[in-house]
Amino acid sequence: MGQAMQLRIRGRAGGLRGTLEVPGDKSVTHRALLLGAMASGTTRLRRPLRSGVTEAMDDCLGPLGVRVEHPGPEETLVHGAAWRNPDAPLDCRGSGTTLRLLLGALAGSEVEATLTGSPRLRRRPMARVTEPLRRMGTQVTGLNGTDQPPLHVRGARLHGISYRMPVASAQVKSAILLAGLHAQGSTRVHEPVPSRDHTERLLRHLGVPLVTENGAVRLEPIDGRLPAFDLAVPGDFSAACFLLAAAVLTPGSEVTIQEVGLNPTRTGLLSAMRSMGARIEVGAAANSGVEPTGEVTAQTSALEGIRVDAHQVVGMIDEIPLLILLATQARGRTSVAGASELRRKESDRLTAMTAELSKMGALIREYGEAVTIEGPTPLRGAEVSAHGDHRVAMALAIAGTIASGETLLSDAQVIQDSYPGFAAALRSLGADLQ
Ligand code: S3P
Repeated sequence: MGQAMQLRIRGRAGGLRGTLEVPGDKSVTHRALLLGAMASGTTRLRRPLRSGVTEAMDDCLGPLGVRVEHPGPEETLVHGAAWRNPDAPLDCRGSGTTLRLLLGALAGSEVEATLTGSPRLRRRPMARVTEPLRRMGTQVTGLNGTDQPPLHVRGARLHGISYRMPVASAQVKSAILLAGLHAQGSTRVHEPVPSRDHTERLLRHLGVPLVTENGAVRLEPIDGRLPAFDLAVPGDFSAACFLLAAAVLTPGSEVTIQEVGLNPTRTGLLSAMRSMGARIEVGAAANSGVEPTGEVTAQTSALEGIRVDAHQVVGMIDEIPLLILLATQARGRTSVAGASELRRKESDRLTAMTAELSKMGALIREYGEAVTIEGPTPLRGAEVSAHGDHRVAMALAIAGTIASGETLLSDAQVIQDSYPGFAAALRSLGADLQ
């Protein structure tokens, strides 16, 4: 995670203006690294995300016999190989995506491995993924008979299942689909609400028979290995949102983000911001063949409170901390229902955002699965903590840019987990932070 770092943010520096790109998408990079590792031949990724959590995936692939190279800052090569038993536990650090997706891929492989991670990752819910994998025939055991990592998994010839997921989770869905790739018979996954579909898009692109019908994904197994591929990774919409929200909240701003991923299963916050009254333009979308991308421009806007229900939360699952911040500046009440998954991320994001933004003067109440925010409340600079969570850290940094006075954000090194260059990007737009 790197050395403890503090960000000092001076608020109300003036309008934010500029055009820029954000780093590659975290979810797409994770999948591309993993599928490239399972493929036969060399996979070439343009502009993948290189951050704490994707390095965790990189570092787990090496001991499985897969070489990952970075010939330049914008290019990664993954030399797919037949996996071998690693000598030591694979450390997924703080990355839930690395652990859950890798577990699914290992379940259907010919190797045996142990997956572990940071103390916090080891406390996150894993039964949601071990349970369906066991139904497929996987032998997976956790610490002292629980489902907590370290998780030991022995790859085997599995059988396809039809599984109704109790929670909408792209990580769980992806783990089951990856396990189903070499299983006997088809694998069906039903989701309560459609979650991000990057795995499905990429598998389909690689020729895997996969269809989405009536809220379910059905995959047929393949013979042999996946083919290697070339992929231009779109800019990370979740990273872009922080800069777009900063523009909406700062008087005199206009910010454009180019080549950003616009997968409709990810862009829930755009719709929410628009319903709040945000002035956001989406330029013509292109399609890399796998994911839609485009240009998004946001301008300073007056916001109104909105209601967000459980179905809408899934499409903005990583943006709720930012939505809470936006709501503090909106007129009236904003309520978010069905947000219990937010308590199971890198931190309890409902508690973290409520505690920290309250120090800055916000009026927020969190209870059970919900949070309500009354606005607008002017924010004042304060000493705040990221709670070890990159998205909380970035939302608080943006809060600092619109607050009066100075904000000191401790634990700011966690931003490296998903958006190295975040502070530099904000500075390039005119924000005052160091
Ligand atoms: C992700 C899915 C989401 C999201 C996470 C990345 C993925 O988690 O919060 O940042 O890449 O599949 P869940 O599947 O647990 O909701």
